[in-house]
Amino acid sequence: MKIVDFVNGRSLLLGVTGNPLEHSISPQLHNTLTSILNNNCIYVPLRIDEEDFDEAIKGLCALGFTGFNVTIPYKNKILKHLDVISKEAELIGAVNTVKIKDNKLYGFNTDVSGFSDAFKEESGGDFFNKKVVILGAGGAARAVGLAVAAGGASRIYIVNRTFEKTGAIKKIIKDYDSGVDVICRDSINFNISKTDIVINTTSAGMYPDVENMPFEGTLEFDRNMTVYDLIYNPSNTKLLKQAAKSGAKTVNGLGMLIYQGIRAYEIWMDIKIEDDISREMLLSFKKYL
Ligand code: ATR
Repeated sequence: MKIVDFVNGRSLLLGVTGNPLEHSISPQLHNTLTSILNNNCIYVPLRIDEEDFDEAIKGLCALGFTGFNVTIPYKNKILKHLDVISKEAELIGAVNTVKIKDNKLYGFNTDVSGFSDAFKEESGGDFFNKKVVILGAGGAARAVGLAVAAGGASRIYIVNRTFEKTGAIKKIIKDYDSGVDVICRDSINFNISKTDIVINTTSAGMYPDVENMPFEGTLEFDRNMTVYDLIYNPSNTKLLKQAAKSGAKTVNGLGMLIYQGIRAYEIWMDIKIEDDISREMLLSFKKYL
């Protein structure tokens, strides 16, 4: 009989809190990292009902968890439990990674670094001095906005069909980097061909709504653009297909998903994961999904 010994009495405990979790790939992602790095830890799904959330978080501390991810619907609800919060997470108002140390909870938002690292890796470009269009004004757009501003973009257009929501993102970006020029729009009523990068943070086009795309009929791409869609299911959205037809460079959101997870793992384990390992993870998950 083969003895199962990948978990033992010394294993560190990690997990993801959220509800539902059936489609989360975080357990596969983090347990694969653990296996590659030969660490002794286990990452488990922690599905929590809304009314049990506060007690469950106390329970994770009592059980000696090293850290955990936070996903829908708890990214805001976790805030009141934190002793320390990173600047990005505070500005965005959402935390996706918590580290527990000496009974204190430290909150982070690794979507910001996860997005910029994935963008650089997969597009081969960066945001420095670029004109960038961000489609959407929800939680994901906040993280993307900070990443783009931190990368030195010269101008950011926030385009959302509900114009009233764009002001809050503009404020967050300006609080982070007062130098960047931020313009809010409710439609593509400017010359988009003069921009370098278009990033879709809306859910339009996500499975099962695959025939949809944001701002259909008004987006005109060209071959000098990079178009990044945060959606990864389907891997080639209608938006990306149209962009590719115009010769634009296209990237989907799988890289961001993988890199935000890698950044979280680095925080928990206090390590730096080599770029080669991150690349290998991305390639493996492209095949797996
Ligand atoms: P997330 O946290 O993933 O960003 P969210 O906060 O619910 O999710 O935001 C969803 C975003 O997708 C919003 O900007 C939404 O636009 P509205 O603010 O106008 O609702 C945008 N969105 C969703 N479906 C869309 C569609 N069919 N066309 C354009 N934008 C869409």
